Amino acid sequence: MEDLKGRHLLSLQQYNKKELMQILETAAALQAIMARGVPFKPLQGKTLGMIFNKNSTRTRVSFEVAIYQLGGHGLHLGGQELQLARGESIADTARVLSRYLDAIMIRTYSHAEVEELAANATVPVINGLTDRFHPCQALADFYTLYKKKGRLAGLKLAFVGDGNNNVTHSLLLGAAKLGVDIHVAAPAGYAPEAEVLALARQEAKLSGSSVLLTTDPVEAVAGADAVYTDVWTSMGKEDEAQERCRILAPYQVNSSLMAAAKPDALFLHCLPANRGEEVTDEVMDGPNSAVFDQAENRLHVQKAVLALLVRGGELVEEMANLLGDRKQPRVAG
Ligand code: CP
Ligand code: NVA
Repeated sequence: MEDLKGRHLLSLQQYNKKELMQILETAAALQAIMARGVPFKPLQGKTLGMIFNKNSTRTRVSFEVAIYQLGGHGLHLGGQELQLARGESIADTARVLSRYLDAIMIRTYSHAEVEELAANATVPVINGLTDRFHPCQALADFYTLYKKKGRLAGLKLAFVGDGNNNVTHSLLLGAAKLGVDIHVAAPAGYAPEAEVLALARQEAKLSGSSVLLTTDPVEAVAGADAVYTDVWTSMGKEDEAQERCRILAPYQVNSSLMAAAKPDALFLHCLPANRGEEVTDEVMDGPNSAVFDQAENRLHVQKAVLALLVRGGELVEEMANLLGDRKQPRVAG
């Protein structure tokens, strides 16, 4: 059994397959415990600080509810209200916050800043989205895939749209590690970062999955078990919105593109969506759309992340006892 106590979660690259599976299995156990109405407060008296330098609906609310349901307390720290905005260094901020908090979640622009925060913090730092990665989102996405399809290994996930963003990068790393085939369709100039692609290809070799990059959405989606898209203009890229809409228009996920996937293919989106741009209402509100389950799953998965990073292995034993089983619910890898 892996013990994740004290670890940071900055990118899925820091976690191996076993550790990722442990997070997903813990999410399943916590969801089952909650469904049974069993009181379980493993983070009683613990505090999570949440720094936001970008807007958020899901990440903010799901983390705040997650820590509350686990018995702890969450503090929303607007980036503009912290002394950080007046020039206090990231390192000093990390040292000070570590004296009060049991974990720090941060959503910001620069991934390097989050690495610096983690390097100077003595409590776990969780990336709630940077320009490069969105690991909590991808964990919720693989949890959703597992819950809907009953397995992960051998599934084919197609991502269509802006391949060069945080969500695509995290999906690439997670899929490659978890044995999910990943197909990315993006126009020239919007391909994933070369470094992330190379890492994903390396991981895919080990897990026996495959990574395909193409400019053709139909090629990517053909035979897929799930089709995923994200906004064309991520936070911080607003100046490029018009050009992005023009270049990415052929990458809209609509009924005709979904028809190339398996008939029971899920439609996934991290949300928020710009309906009518990257996805049509018909697909978003259609019978195969899992977008709101995906949003709910942020809560279950983040509870697992918080519990494992703050409490570690001892928690796994406690959950097994509560569920009346030596083992946690299994997630088929
Ligand atoms: N998917 C996601 O991270 O949503 P928010 O931006 O609302 O947090
Ligand atoms: N790629 C999007 C994800 C939002 C959750 C962004 O960064 O704005």
